[in-house]
Amino acid sequence: MSRSSDGALDPAGRIDELRDAIRHHNRLYYELDLPEIPDAEFDQLLRELIALEDEHPDLISPDSPTQAVGGSATITFSSVEHRVPMMSLDNAFAPSEVVAWGARLQRRFDELGKSEESARLVAELKIDGLAVSIRYENGSLVQAATRGDGRVGEDVTANVRTIQGIPHRLPKGCPEVLEVRGEVYMSISAFEELNAAQIAADERTYVNPRNTAAGSLRQKDAAITASRNLSFWSYQVGEVIGGPQLSDHHQIFEFLSGLGFPVNPEVKVLQGLNEVDAHLEHWQKHRHDLDYEIDGVVLKVDDLQLQRELGFTSRAPRWAIAYKFPPEERTTKLIDIQVSIGRTGRATPFAQLEPVFVGGSTVEFATLHNQDQVAVKDVRPGDTVIVRKAGDVIPEVVGPVLSERPKGLRKWIFPTNCPVCGHKLVRPEDEAVHRCLNLSCPARVAGAIEHFASRGAMDIEGLGEQRVQLFCELGLLNDVADIYSLDPERLKGLDKFADVSVQKLLDAIEGSKSKPLANLLVGLNIRHLGGAGAVALAEHCGHLDRIESATEEELAGVEGMGAIIARSVHDWFAGATNRVVIEKLRAAGVNFQGPEASDLPQTLEGLIVVVTGTLDGFTRDEAEAAVKGRGGKSPGSVSKKTTAVVIGVGPGASKVTKAEELGVPILDEAGFLELLETGTLPSSVRTQGDS
Ligand code: IVH
Repeated sequence: MSRSSDGALDPAGRIDELRDAIRHHNRLYYELDLPEIPDAEFDQLLRELIALEDEHPDLISPDSPTQAVGGSATITFSSVEHRVPMMSLDNAFAPSEVVAWGARLQRRFDELGKSEESARLVAELKIDGLAVSIRYENGSLVQAATRGDGRVGEDVTANVRTIQGIPHRLPKGCPEVLEVRGEVYMSISAFEELNAAQIAADERTYVNPRNTAAGSLRQKDAAITASRNLSFWSYQVGEVIGGPQLSDHHQIFEFLSGLGFPVNPEVKVLQGLNEVDAHLEHWQKHRHDLDYEIDGVVLKVDDLQLQRELGFTSRAPRWAIAYKFPPEERTTKLIDIQVSIGRTGRATPFAQLEPVFVGGSTVEFATLHNQDQVAVKDVRPGDTVIVRKAGDVIPEVVGPVLSERPKGLRKWIFPTNCPVCGHKLVRPEDEAVHRCLNLSCPARVAGAIEHFASRGAMDIEGLGEQRVQLFCELGLLNDVADIYSLDPERLKGLDKFADVSVQKLLDAIEGSKSKPLANLLVGLNIRHLGGAGAVALAEHCGHLDRIESATEEELAGVEGMGAIIARSVHDWFAGATNRVVIEKLRAAGVNFQGPEASDLPQTLEGLIVVVTGTLDGFTRDEAEAAVKGRGGKSPGSVSKKTTAVVIGVGPGASKVTKAEELGVPILDEAGFLELLETGTLPSSVRTQGDS
């Protein structure tokens, strides 16, 4: 807080400071498409200013950023005056604030003598893009404008015309004048594709889909906009002359969809405020199931007459509120960049950060992927950086805040030697990654053991990263086969390792001995061999010994195996150390037997298995073929009859929700392997009600 000359807190000074900062960030965000701070920090500044102005109404001035709804319109595009202002929304940052809004509404309904019915709400997703208003006269698209300051926006007609799905002509019978409002956004897949092309061209990557969408729309050359693969969801109307008389907001969606506008399929009518909490919770949990970014949920009173009676404040309608999810981006200090070594020797740079609470947890480390990414992002120890943690995704460093970079900060240089064993790091030609090629590098050994025990392989519960590390450090584990000769007495003697948990671990280890051969093959950490290849090998050869003794040519002849995988498998089994591991596993009684080597066993006859999201070891087609090849069906949607839904990374929201609603078992990739081979669901499948 600013202080006056006598040292007292000075609200006027602080208000000035906040206004300057907000104007500065508004300009960076709306005009330059170069935000310096995450949205959440901007929101904090704005909230502080609103609170101070509420406390000191005499200090409110018409040019305060709180009196405008967004960034200022710039001079680069011609101006468009909105006939109906494009208002912003009031934000709620916690469910309790939505409840308070609901209580205000309820009081107002009571005053107006409205029935229970009035409490009906429409819940929409808050799409993270930019608002536009598209004007049609006599069915033709005549103008499109950004929101600008809510009163005057920018003319982006030529650019909006290039966006797929936005009709240029409306069908007969449409209103004489119609302004359709909604959000222009960039899908996550389009954003990732664009960034992949940037990396390939050695260009700086874009920061996030929202800013990229904004920058793409504000291009002088509409051909550039056209190349950016933007999308649009409609959610509101502005000026309307003619057309049907609608009484409810949800009818607007039916009306717009009938005219050919894209309408978000997740719009839902809630019968009352009591349904709000569950809805917010659902989307907070499932926001990353979508192929576009959302930053909250918008709630709107459904009854349009009631909307008119509730009216607006100077900024926003009283009949709507935006519930904003907790922030997933924050800034913090980058203390250092270090390199971790994975099970294949891959050297991954990661950021050591000043701990920061983001995406629902405290983040201290974040991935930087590889040397090229560090170079493209140009983050340097000592920088202030933007950190992002979205859902279950590993936290990552988005980029530096250049305006806060201390003078003389040195570029970070990739180390030449493995930080764990000291061997030289090698970057194979045509690869973006460095690798430590020392097979006995302790980091590689621990990584391989961890992988063997992981859910995608032998699924040994209780043998996660920390325990593997500890057991390796104590010399109890030197390779994956040592798992089967862990000494219970030695484990019980370890600190913080209760007898019960030792027994649980031993039971899980024992249980893993009868896992299908494909799971064992995945667990052996053979380069290039994924789930689909492992299943194919297990089925074709029928026993581990036959895989071990097969020639490279024989392996390459197995359907679904390419020459690269065949060579890698062959080389792995030729390694003397690996043969020792195999013999130790045999002696321990681990299952080496695969299914009968014949035509594919019809394990899934009569079963229906839906696959959604990306799996590690199968493409979508391979997964479906694996189901069908075993006599099962693999349709595109979930129903009561579905036996199981297999979920990979980025699954379709509607499929997951439907499975949960219907109590259909949900499987991960390891469960899928087991189902393919045995035709029965693993005992630990997840159904509705599980966490
Ligand atoms: S309605 C008068 N609905 O959020 C109501 N806005 O913070 C005007 N937004 O400017 C907005 N999804 O850019 C509305 N389903 C949705 C939305 C949405 C995203 C954006 C829009 C608006 C901003 C307000």
